[in-house]
Amino acid sequence: MANQLSHCCKSILLLLPYLFLCTTVYGSGADVIGAAPALGSNATDRLALLAFKDQIISGDPHGDLSSWNETLHFCSWQGVTCAGRIGRVRTLELPSQRLVGSLSPSLGNLTFLRELNLGDNLFTGTIPPELGKLSRLRTLNLTTNSLGGEIPANLSNCKQLRVLDLGTNALVGRIPSEITNLSKLKLLYLLVNNLTGVIPPSVGNLSSLTVLASGRNALRGRIPEEIGLISGLQFLQIAENQLSGAIPKSLTNLSSLYFLAIATNQLEGLLADLGAALLQLETLYGTHPSLAPERFGSYNHFIGSVPAGIGRLGGLLWLNLEGNNQLGAGEEDGLGFIVSLVNCTRLEMFDIGSNSFEGEMPASLANLSSRLSMLIMGDNLIRGSIPEGIENLASLSVLRLESNLLSGRIPASVGWLQGMQTLSLFGNRLSGQIPSNIGNITRLNVLRIDSNDLEGGIPSSLGACRSLQYMDAAQNMLNGTIPGQLLRLSSLSQGLRLSHNALVGPLPAEVGNLKNLWQLDLSENRLSGEVPASLGDCQSLEYLDMSGNSFSGSIPSSLNKLKGIGYIDLSRNKLAGRIPEYLGQLQALQHLNLSYNDLDGEVPQSGVFRNASAISIAGNIKLCGGVPRLRLPSCLNHTSARTKNRNHVLRILVPVLCVVSALIVLSCASFAAFLWIKKGSRREPHCVPPLGTQPMLISHSELFRATDGFSSENLIGAGSYGSVYMGVLDQNIGNTVAIKVLNLERTGAYKSFAAECEALRNIRHRNLVKIFTCCSSVDPSGNDFRALVFEFMPNGSLEQWLHPGERHASRRLTIAERLSIATDVACAIDYLHHHSHASIVHCDLKPSNVLLDDDMTAHVGDFGLARILSDEMGASTAPEQSKTVRVRGTIGYVPPEYGMGGDVSTEGDVYSYGILLLEMFTGLRPTDGTFKDGSTLREHAKVVFPERVMEILDP
Ligand SMILES: *[C@@H]1O[C@H](CO)[C@@H](O)[C@H](O)[C@H]1NC(C)=O
Ligand SMILES: *[C@@H]1O[C@H](CO)[C@@H](O)[C@H](O)[C@H]1NC(C)=O
Ligand SMILES: *[C@@H]1O[C@H](CO)[C@@H](O)[C@H](O)[C@H]1NC(C)=O
Ligand SMILES: *[C@@H]1O[C@H](CO)[C@@H](O)[C@H](O)[C@H]1NC(C)=O
Repeated sequence: MANQLSHCCKSILLLLPYLFLCTTVYGSGADVIGAAPALGSNATDRLALLAFKDQIISGDPHGDLSSWNETLHFCSWQGVTCAGRIGRVRTLELPSQRLVGSLSPSLGNLTFLRELNLGDNLFTGTIPPELGKLSRLRTLNLTTNSLGGEIPANLSNCKQLRVLDLGTNALVGRIPSEITNLSKLKLLYLLVNNLTGVIPPSVGNLSSLTVLASGRNALRGRIPEEIGLISGLQFLQIAENQLSGAIPKSLTNLSSLYFLAIATNQLEGLLADLGAALLQLETLYGTHPSLAPERFGSYNHFIGSVPAGIGRLGGLLWLNLEGNNQLGAGEEDGLGFIVSLVNCTRLEMFDIGSNSFEGEMPASLANLSSRLSMLIMGDNLIRGSIPEGIENLASLSVLRLESNLLSGRIPASVGWLQGMQTLSLFGNRLSGQIPSNIGNITRLNVLRIDSNDLEGGIPSSLGACRSLQYMDAAQNMLNGTIPGQLLRLSSLSQGLRLSHNALVGPLPAEVGNLKNLWQLDLSENRLSGEVPASLGDCQSLEYLDMSGNSFSGSIPSSLNKLKGIGYIDLSRNKLAGRIPEYLGQLQALQHLNLSYNDLDGEVPQSGVFRNASAISIAGNIKLCGGVPRLRLPSCLNHTSARTKNRNHVLRILVPVLCVVSALIVLSCASFAAFLWIKKGSRREPHCVPPLGTQPMLISHSELFRATDGFSSENLIGAGSYGSVYMGVLDQNIGNTVAIKVLNLERTGAYKSFAAECEALRNIRHRNLVKIFTCCSSVDPSGNDFRALVFEFMPNGSLEQWLHPGERHASRRLTIAERLSIATDVACAIDYLHHHSHASIVHCDLKPSNVLLDDDMTAHVGDFGLARILSDEMGASTAPEQSKTVRVRGTIGYVPPEYGMGGDVSTEGDVYSYGILLLEMFTGLRPTDGTFKDGSTLREHAKVVFPERVMEILDP
């Protein structure tokens, strides 16, 4: 879908039901050209082609169909070729033309047709049974459309069929057993549909078949034993169905098989892995659109054992049996088949994760193919040790053996697997030391060795793993000190967890290098010494747990730089001195545990300290003051006097700062006004300050004045993100603006502010809300204050127009206005994705983020969740914004794959845009109460499209 936006935003409009209606009502008949010549066979073809064209409503961005005119013979029409002598249509190929419409039954009159490819279009309706008349047809490719209904059984009359690709549609019903008569069929793709019923046992008759791909459907029952009769089968993909029973032994007869996937969830487990797995997937899967990660949900549940003869499949490249739960359960020698896999010298991927395999880890694992790149056996009941010879698997990039019953040491040979990116061994009973050569694995991304019985020190050689993003060694018996080298890895971003070990010594000052780290957990060790001041340099930190150690000294003042921190636990240490005031000013802080230390003095009362249940200070007997609910003794007078003094200083400083920033604002505003008046243009107030280098500061007091003290009269919107006020920035020129004041107590508010400022830097488009400035300031009480100042949109949001409450009984939008708004939004998104300085994903497209100016032009706003994917050079501009960030979009509009840990992508925005379109034309929210039990707005529209579209349109 993403490309549809990229070329021209207009074309997406052709999708709209509106046009669908118009063209069917007014447009048909336009193509009835001339009178039919006397009925020769070539005249039939011409009429059939015209009838086919007639059912196409729109699309065709390259204008191929415009050559389908009177002056040109139909054999010269684009996409058509004829058999030379007889002048009959031999191929009709119009893939990827964004054609919208239904398939005309007249296609069945093209009786000389050999190849029909209409893949990757937007055809709806059903597959006409008339296609069964095409007795010469060799290729029928209708992949990636929106075709519904059943697969017509009489396709079995197309006896010459070699390729049948109906993948990625919305087909229902059974796989008709009749099509198993197609003795010449080589490729059968039925992936990603809603097919039910069983795989017909007569499938064994498909004696020429090489590819059978029917994954991601709702097929039930067993895999028929007869499948073993298809002797030339190379590719069998039946993952993500509801198949059950045992894996048929006859599979081992398929000596040409190289790809076997009968997993529950072909992709989900792999998507969870960083790096290599995805790349692998793309190279292997990239060829077919149906295999793109999109939908998860069906579960195969095979039981029993894997046939021991599987090693007879000498060409096997990909073997995925993941997630069947019960596979291997109760089988004494459940892993016995691995010995035979040694013969599969081309094996690259082997996944039996999330099953019930029992027994000893076979030593023969080490003799698997040296091409093996992914070895996944996690979440089983496997005992024994990791074979020493694993170093033979020199191509390994993913090794996952987590959540088993493995014991013994981590063999030093693991350190020789230099291409490894994911090493996951957590949740076993591994003992001994972490091999010191682990630093040789320089590409390591993810290291999980937590929840084992490892002892000894953390090897300092880890400092060579310069790609390490996540390390978890918690819950072991590690001792020794934390090596400074590890803390120099600025690549560490997702987390560093060393908790529940026996680590000693200080936390090295090098910790300040971890500028991208979100999570640091050092709790329950024997660490001592002072908390290093450099910890304040870890500016991405959101979670800090140092509890249960012996840290002493005072809480360093530098921690006030941790602006995004939400969780701090310093409990059960030997910290002394005061509780720093600034902790009350860390706006993101939601949980603070300082209990069982030796802190004294007054407990602050602002910020997190206001909420007695968010903090814990028990066991510090020398504390006093704080909010009354803490019931602490009141403090002596001199301490509060000192606080007063400080407040006094603030009271003088703040106005001075405010005056300075107000002056800057004023001069900018008047400069802007000057330009504006001079140009005399109403719509282009060119008042955008140079955000490129540094956001201009605007003072709190200026905004305070502009909004009459943030008065409720000026409040025009509110949500969890904060509030939006209307304000007049400069009385003289009447520059009305919208001011979004962020609620900094919300987690991620600082990030969201930064994201929005960053996204809006340098971007200009008539359909994006213009930003005047980002305001990063403090309010008079010294609290952080973040606001964004935008162009004011007098007509409010699309949300208010689509769903007017009782209060705003305004008129409804006309269909033409809706169409124009849809165009505006598409243009804005197209610009963000493809034409701005970097590819920006909005991530939160919904009606309340579409604002309307005084002539109803739509402007997309709210970039609080936006992500910058890459700059022009293709390099990531913001490495800390790893694509695996959990996205919090809005329910109903977020694409399902985000919920499953999928990456942020432009496709995601396109999905949200689709929902927005449906909402605009049906008037129903995706979260409408009528959608229950898994039904969705999308389904709702799909069911009636195209014939009964009138039923769901907004009256
Ligand atoms: C297709 O052929 C049938 C007869 O086989 C005829 O009735 C019909 O009109 C033809 N349609 C077109 C569009 O040529
Ligand atoms: C028919 O199509 C051809 C090829 O696109 C074009 O050159 C020609 O001008 C068209 N004729 C008419 C009458 O539109
Ligand atoms: C179409 O058929 C007629 C009569 O059978 C024949 O005269 C004519 O040459 C054919 N045209 C083409 C382009 O084959
Ligand atoms: C079917 O057509 C699509 C679009 O052209 C193409 O990507 C796909 O590979 C084709 N399928 C087969 C089996 O050739």
